Amino acid sequence: MTDNQGRTIDYLRISVTDRCNLRCVYCMPEEGTENIPHDRIMTYDEILRVCRILAEHGLEKIKITGGEPLVRKDVVWLIKELKKIPGIINVTITTNGVLLKEQYEALIEAGIDAITVSLDTLDPEIYRQITRRDELSHVLEGIRYAAEQGKVRLKINCVPVLGTKKQGILELMEHIRQYDIDLRFIEMMPIGLGKQFHFVSEDVLRRLIEDTYGEMTLYCEKRGNGPCRYYDVPGFTGKIGFISAMSHKFCHECNRVRLTADGFLKTCLQYDCGVALKPALSEGISDDKLWKMMEEAILHKPQAHHFEEEKGAAEDEERGMSQIGG
Ligand code: 5AD
Ligand code: SF4
Repeated sequence: MTDNQGRTIDYLRISVTDRCNLRCVYCMPEEGTENIPHDRIMTYDEILRVCRILAEHGLEKIKITGGEPLVRKDVVWLIKELKKIPGIINVTITTNGVLLKEQYEALIEAGIDAITVSLDTLDPEIYRQITRRDELSHVLEGIRYAAEQGKVRLKINCVPVLGTKKQGILELMEHIRQYDIDLRFIEMMPIGLGKQFHFVSEDVLRRLIEDTYGEMTLYCEKRGNGPCRYYDVPGFTGKIGFISAMSHKFCHECNRVRLTADGFLKTCLQYDCGVALKPALSEGISDDKLWKMMEEAILHKPQAHHFEEEKGAAEDEERGMSQIGG
């Protein structure tokens, strides 16, 4: 699959649910979240059908996200079925880690290729402030268990939102050092509730890390499916990575589209552009017509985001991150 800009699209991020067992301040409101009703959520059969068609046209890599994907019933079954699709070479998941320990073995058995855990701090009080829940110990247990088992590659995503000192970024680094885990810092993007916060730039974090651990060296080999830039840091087994959509825009090499929990094939993180597949699926559309719909949407994938502009574009996204899945 290629878009109008000549970018190859081989990566799909699937949000399997908009529900979550945390309430991170930059993602979901404290109260009054309206979940998408069950009858508007993509069924597993619908997701599998969309993926089979896309795989015939070059889809190779799939990320399972949410909300929190592990709260949806039988998500490991979906992963197992996705892994059977000819052409799909890797299926990975991003989870908040609360249910990781109890579902780790099932994920491995299903054939998951990598697990990413979102964890912004090690400080229980700050964790509660950011996620509005008291689940840090479960997340840390999940990470420790997964690291000790060592059956698939583990990554941690950290969004510095309250500042590097308050969140204990160096403490997080120090904790990760004992494991073979990649730690990736994500610049906050102005999407949904994220608009209320400022991002901490890659350059600021690099300076902090280099002042503490010494010079970082760029890791040049390919690692992962996305735009993360990885570095070796003295004393660390895993890599330290940066996903810097704000300070180092990577739209020109974007290889992805997204499927929301209610079946919208979304072609750019910022804009409300793409195509609603769920209504067509419910009406019994043919594979051929379904592919034409998706092809047309992918062809018109926007050239780039414009997060840096003060006022969002007219077609700016209404969905929050929990409905998109990052
Ligand atoms: N900007 C950047 N990252 C975000 N995430 C959630 N909201 C935002 C935002 N506004 C992160 C989560 C998770 C990943 C899927 O996206 O922390 O690690
Ligand atoms: Fe849940 Fe992830 Fe959103 Fe936090 S960022 S509320 S863990 S979906």
